Amino acid sequence: MDIRPFLTPIRWSEDQVHLIDQRVLPVTERWIACADWAGVAEAIVTMAVRGAPAIGIAAAYGVALAARASLRGADLQAAFDGLAATRPTAVNLFWALDRLQRQVASATAAGEDLGEALLSEAQAIHAEDLAMCQAMGDHGAALLPANVRLLTHCNTGSLATGGYGTALGVVRSAARAGKLLRVYADETRPFLQGSRLTAWELARDGLPVRVITDNMAAWYMRQGEVDAIVVGTDRIAANGDVANKIGTYGLAVLAQAHNLPFYVVGPTSTIDLNTPDGDQIPIEQRPAREVTHVGQTQVVPDGVPVENPAFDVTPAHLVTAIITEHGVLHPPYAEGLRTHVGKSVAPTQRSVH
Ligand code: MRU
Repeated sequence: MDIRPFLTPIRWSEDQVHLIDQRVLPVTERWIACADWAGVAEAIVTMAVRGAPAIGIAAAYGVALAARASLRGADLQAAFDGLAATRPTAVNLFWALDRLQRQVASATAAGEDLGEALLSEAQAIHAEDLAMCQAMGDHGAALLPANVRLLTHCNTGSLATGGYGTALGVVRSAARAGKLLRVYADETRPFLQGSRLTAWELARDGLPVRVITDNMAAWYMRQGEVDAIVVGTDRIAANGDVANKIGTYGLAVLAQAHNLPFYVVGPTSTIDLNTPDGDQIPIEQRPAREVTHVGQTQVVPDGVPVENPAFDVTPAHLVTAIITEHGVLHPPYAEGLRTHVGKSVAPTQRSVH
């Protein structure tokens, strides 16, 4: 297998944040440049950048842009608030903004240049995410048998992170270890992150991917074509309940029915110990047009109401293991999640208190 280098989907250069525009993939490879925090917020809301860790990284750069534009006090707070209001489910966004808030306090107290301090914190978050993804990939791949056929959902790859990916990081590490036979990518209605983004990213990098529509997953499991399901996560509650792209819960139920392992891969920045269980996780409702149209083609009659929750919650008892950068957790999850978060207190957080 000729595995090619993965993409870095978020770049800082010439005082701007550059993002690969995920709205137009796979047809067009286009980069957009954001020169201010509002541009970053717009990119997150419209899903030019998406995926839990990538949203957090982009928001961190957005705050850095605000500080470098000399916004201070209430104006800087407006940037924090505007970025926090973009998408509600992925906790990485709030985790990253918290880190930047702490950095504002410590840099101000130390009399440092705020713009430079926040930029270097954003760059640290970005670099740490990449390292976490590589560690998770290796931990996850160690669980898999030879010639493994994986099924995944949504896009959890380089495009969704600082690079390498969460669940797709496991795919990459399995391929590097010579264990990967094939990945089935669910198309992931309605935004099609699987068929548009996962297929693009894995094919680009020389990894063996086949797209299936969401309603084919059960049949492929039934036929013995799938050895394990591996997904990412947008928020892990303190009890191990897991929010992820709508459709994930159904896959977990199917995995149990077919006696297949269901692995969830997420960095500790995705663990939310302040949310006791999945019922408390806010679920984003996205615009109806994502359901009524595929691209520019209308697929629902005029005037018929539709639903569009972007995420669902998989109860902890359906999760075989949660993989973070610190290793593999098995149920019950509460204590292990606390331990993994405790190992991850960022240096900036320690220096504030
Ligand atoms: O709505 P999206 O595309 O931002 O949703 C992304 C997912 O649900 C991913 O599975 C998740 O962020 C975890 S992996 C980076």
